[in-house]
Amino acid sequence: MEKELVIVLDFGGQYNQLIARRVRECNVYCEVKPYTMSLEEIKAANPKGIIFTGGPNSVYLEESPHYDKAIFELGIPILGICYGSQLMAYELGGTVATAPVSEYGQTEVTVENSNLFEGVSRTSICWMSHTDYIAALPEGFVRTGWSDVCPNAAMECAERKLYATQFHPEVMHTREGMKMLSNFVYKVCGCSGDWKMDSFVETTIAQLRERIGNGKVLCALSGGVDSSVAAVLLSKAVGKQLTCVFVDHGLLRKNEGDEVEAVFGPDGDYDLNFIRVNAQERFYKKLAGVEEPEAKRKIIGAEFIRVFEEEAKKIGAVDFLVQGTIYPDVIESGLGKSAVIKSHHNVGGLPDCVDFKAIVEPLRMLFKDEVRRAGLELGIPEYLVYRQPFPGPGLGVRIVGEITAEKVRIVQDADFIYREELAKAGVEGLSQYFAALTNMRSVGVMGDFRTYDYAVALRAVMTSDFMTAEAAEIPWAVLSKVTNRIVNEVKGVNRVLYDCTGKPPATIEFE
Ligand code: XMP
Repeated sequence: MEKELVIVLDFGGQYNQLIARRVRECNVYCEVKPYTMSLEEIKAANPKGIIFTGGPNSVYLEESPHYDKAIFELGIPILGICYGSQLMAYELGGTVATAPVSEYGQTEVTVENSNLFEGVSRTSICWMSHTDYIAALPEGFVRTGWSDVCPNAAMECAERKLYATQFHPEVMHTREGMKMLSNFVYKVCGCSGDWKMDSFVETTIAQLRERIGNGKVLCALSGGVDSSVAAVLLSKAVGKQLTCVFVDHGLLRKNEGDEVEAVFGPDGDYDLNFIRVNAQERFYKKLAGVEEPEAKRKIIGAEFIRVFEEEAKKIGAVDFLVQGTIYPDVIESGLGKSAVIKSHHNVGGLPDCVDFKAIVEPLRMLFKDEVRRAGLELGIPEYLVYRQPFPGPGLGVRIVGEITAEKVRIVQDADFIYREELAKAGVEGLSQYFAALTNMRSVGVMGDFRTYDYAVALRAVMTSDFMTAEAAEIPWAVLSKVTNRIVNEVKGVNRVLYDCTGKPPATIEFE
């Protein structure tokens, strides 16, 4: 049976992904599509509902994105949000103008009897962000919400299943926004909520089995959540036809290589061929004497590809190469490129170095939280499923300046202690935390002796999107304990610093 679909039609708003995630949280499958998707394509996709996103423009300008008015005649329920609400009003004969007073931030909105607001308080805090407003409603519409300065904060024509909100129900600052979106997909669109992780896992395994047949599959396994979930899905689908290559570049966290091997290796839980390549020395040799961050990243990336290529050659021609692409990558690859701050190294270069017939991307339609839920569904251990992000070049970007085996040992041991103490103290709410090794050596005293050793920097940040981040406030007692343990237990360190910098201006990683 076809699963239910809601389309988020993207008019350039910054919350397009968020809308899709919220709809999926309601157990309804949702895809983000550009506003250039044609009416014919929309009809063919047969969605249960459509959501118009916000956008930065003014609808009355010719160059702003518009959509064929015929979309309102399809009988498919539509919810317009912010710019999307103004577009609906404008196209259907209402008036949109610059508001006498712009609204930005949390605003009290009064809502009235509407399917959309069933179960929502009569006055509810909503997130506004607009300078234009709907000055006059289109014919046949009634207003269903207003604020002190926005006379038409929500409107609808229930008969035609057209709904609009000037505010953003998808952001958490709109306190009852989830209820509104859930009302839209269930009460207006009549969805039944058939998007569940257990059925995703089951159907994906069946589809993979059918697509792959007797083919040979190759997967670069990093031990991160995406490649782990992709590998397990394939292992459940085709067992030993899958070979996973795990490259230990010597820049992993303490014990990480062994942990990955314990789960996926011959004594682990899954039916697959597992190849661990211990390439530490190769990487250290290539990195010797190199200090410049981008040069280090490029060397690690290139060497990774070389090692993988050698393994792939030993395996021989494969039919399918697995990529752990997830949905945000798919959405973002459709957008313009911004300045390169760091060249991120994952498995991007692999397709060029392996002889294969097709790529399989089993997680292509999943958001990160859905990948994790699929992982749990598949029985992958929780500590792997909830692992914090770890960069492809690993500790290579957490050691400032030249990398040596000795420095790797220092940062691994310090990081291990830091993670252990944070876990013991039950510190929660951190998005990412780690120890890094600075290239600063300074004078200290231990016992009666002068020391001249390295400074370790501790970092912990809170962020929702990793594009911006705040330094976390770690309790002093915890920092103090970590510091004591590091200087006492990790040879070569006589000073521990805490990084209080946000992003921007700093980045999360040190290089
Ligand atoms: P920055 O340092 O740019 O990091 O603030 C943002 C997030 O991206 C992670 N990161 C990487 N992830 N390959 C990755 O897969 C990389 O090369 C890479 N560099 C940084 C970083 O850990 C943080 O979560």
